[in-house]
Amino acid sequence: MEQLSSARSFLKMPVVKLFGSQFLAAVTLFLVIIPVYVSFEDTMPSLTVIFAIQGVVAATIGVFFGLAKWWAGIQIALPFAAFYSANLEIPGFVWLLLFALSVLVYWNSARDGIPLYLSNSTTWSALAQLLPEKEGIRFIDLGGGVGGTALFLARNRPDAHILSMESAPIPAMISRLRWKWSGLSNVEMRSADFWKENLAAYQVVYAFLSPVPMNRLYEKVKAEMKPGSLFISNSFDVEGIQADEVLELNDNRKTKLHLYRN
Ligand SMILES: C[S@@+](CC[C@H](N)C(=O)[O-])C[C@H]1O[C@@H](n2cnc3c(N)ncnc32)[C@H](O)[C@@H]1O
Repeated sequence: MEQLSSARSFLKMPVVKLFGSQFLAAVTLFLVIIPVYVSFEDTMPSLTVIFAIQGVVAATIGVFFGLAKWWAGIQIALPFAAFYSANLEIPGFVWLLLFALSVLVYWNSARDGIPLYLSNSTTWSALAQLLPEKEGIRFIDLGGGVGGTALFLARNRPDAHILSMESAPIPAMISRLRWKWSGLSNVEMRSADFWKENLAAYQVVYAFLSPVPMNRLYEKVKAEMKPGSLFISNSFDVEGIQADEVLELNDNRKTKLHLYRN
């Protein structure tokens, strides 16, 4: 049963959908589109046409697989980028270095399907409003990124204790440096895996992750958080569970904060 759910989680990962749709697009291109083109035109399409068709077909398959629409640009650019970058005379170690840097930043993307993207300042202000007006409130940002949310809340709510927990090495290092430079004493940036943290100590738990971990995270919230506490998920709801409240923010992306009260 657990293996089945791991397989499902694996298939839900955006990177798997990305390369899965590129693969299916290549199969469609070589088995269907190019033979049909050749039978009409009596010649092979140019490389630019081949790459453009590959990208557009992959983007269409990606949307069908549930990839967000903004991935379409990446899907279309990928065949061109792969081809032309292979022809650039860039030493191998540079690619290795770029790959290592990406791994250290997007540490949790491949395994857990949780990439790095950041909450905006409208969301920070909304979170500050949602913190209960009570001295000593404990707040945790699960997967705190580079620490922006935590620093904003710590500055705006000096009476609260704010923790940001991040396990990707480079974002964790950046958030720790920002913490040291901030001189704030009511905030902590911890380099750790939030799955290992007991949430019972927090009155407000915030997560901006991805659809992949939401059900597992909600089970953890229910098992550990105390009555009266609040779980806030930015953008991603818990499948099959009705949020107690959904706040739509007045920013460009119309951010939705899903509020679950315990
Ligand atoms: C979408 S970002 C959100 C960043 C930040 N919370 C914000 O709102 O600006 C999600 C972050 O969660 C981190 N993350 C994912 N799984 C984690 C885990 N098990 N423990 C700690 N951090 C994790 C990722 O590395 C990524 O930086």
